[in-house]
Amino acid sequence: MGASERAHQHLLLNFTDMGEYAASGSRVIVRGDGCEVIDSDGRRYIDGLSGLFCSNLGHAYGDEIGAAAHRQLATLPFAPTWSLAHPPAIELADLLVERAAPLGMQRVFFANSGSEAVESAYKLIRQWHEANGEPQRTKAIARRLAYHGTTLGALSFTGLESCRSPFEPMAVSTSHLSPTYAYRHRAGEDPEDFTAALLEEAEDAITFAGPERVAMLIAEPVQNGGGAFVPPPGYWSGLRALCDRYGIVLVADETITAYGRVGEWFASSIFDGRPDIITFAKGVTAGHAPLGGVLMTERMAAPFITGGHTFMHGHTWSGHPLATAIASTVLRIYEREQVFENVRDLAPRFAAGLQELRRIPLVGDVRGMGFFWALELVKDRETKGAFSSDEADWLLRQELSGHMDELGLLCRLDDRGEPVIQLSPPLVSDAALLDRIVDIVGTATERAWHAWSGEAAPSSVGVLPTIRSRNPEAGAA
Ligand SMILES: Cc1ncc(COP(=O)(O)O)c(C=O)c1O
Repeated sequence: MGASERAHQHLLLNFTDMGEYAASGSRVIVRGDGCEVIDSDGRRYIDGLSGLFCSNLGHAYGDEIGAAAHRQLATLPFAPTWSLAHPPAIELADLLVERAAPLGMQRVFFANSGSEAVESAYKLIRQWHEANGEPQRTKAIARRLAYHGTTLGALSFTGLESCRSPFEPMAVSTSHLSPTYAYRHRAGEDPEDFTAALLEEAEDAITFAGPERVAMLIAEPVQNGGGAFVPPPGYWSGLRALCDRYGIVLVADETITAYGRVGEWFASSIFDGRPDIITFAKGVTAGHAPLGGVLMTERMAAPFITGGHTFMHGHTWSGHPLATAIASTVLRIYEREQVFENVRDLAPRFAAGLQELRRIPLVGDVRGMGFFWALELVKDRETKGAFSSDEADWLLRQELSGHMDELGLLCRLDDRGEPVIQLSPPLVSDAALLDRIVDIVGTATERAWHAWSGEAAPSSVGVLPTIRSRNPEAGAA
């Protein structure tokens, strides 16, 4: 029995229609090579989404990182970080805080994923408010279309209807604001008006929730859900001011954006957000081990360090020696190989290539920064006419996924909001690879346009992992 058949026997995949997985040939990825991955049939694909925004170093440093992992396993395979500590967790905490110190971060709590990081942040904030005599601060403010994870606490902040509805009512009472989705916002054409409108909406939501009952406001510096929404100038400093005014803790969820995705250690440093807490995961190990965490200012840590309170939360694997040893090695590789400099050097070229794809009538908007981009597809560029959910399904799954597959690019085709092509290549990609990605996206989108507009429709040759919903939040912003 081949790998594809075996994959279908006992595995239940994440967010995957298993029938569709079987029908599309049950792809199994068996090897990574540089910025490409290879499936069990020997077909190569550009890893255009870095796995899931994780493989920032591509698939080239396994030997070096593996040697560090081996040294750690030979020394101390496991010790918890409950009531004691161990060297790899201490070392990684030092490295992380050194790099986050310009943002005022002084301490880190380790978790194992983005969801756990977000949920840990919320629980820490609840206890922090309680320690400060405000136990009634339990509500959260988040944004529509944003993904903050799937555990029941984190899911409350996730603003995607399709992820939430099977599990309602939500654990945490949360209001969802418009994301920084300029393309479809009534004030989106003027950055100043746009910022003012978003901040007014945020203040209204806080007032409506009861300012003394709101615990935290959580947002990604550049929001992934809906497709790489970059904030307008003044937005993050405005959020900071609102949080200060109403005693709310500001959380930057940097699960994707931290560790180089936009060319800096943290995207928060670009937008002057000054969060109280930064959540991180994915890029901290560049996908070589599961690890997430919560960075916090000394003010947030104080009740638990000098205030006589214990953070009543933890996970067995929190700060696992293997994962933390791997993360420290990864951070050193980022620096040694000047990986973030590579992003800063090549981002303008990547951006220009993608922007040029506006020549294709299907491409309504191209947005993003660093190596974090999305193309929004529209029926009619003049009116920004949106596809119905069936049309979007056809466009992404019948058309684009087949072309991307044939042309050898893994990316995300997402229609939980408007249909978008999401791109997040490894941060070590060179100019030639970025150009190839742009070419493939251009060719695939042109083919889809021909099929849509009634010209010769190229045949589909397979299906890539797409994220789909029959219940998209079209025009949510
Ligand atoms: C911004 C953000 N927060 C949280 C999460 C949840 O992370 P995980 O899948 O590791 O639980 C994700 C996952 O993609 C994310 O993008």
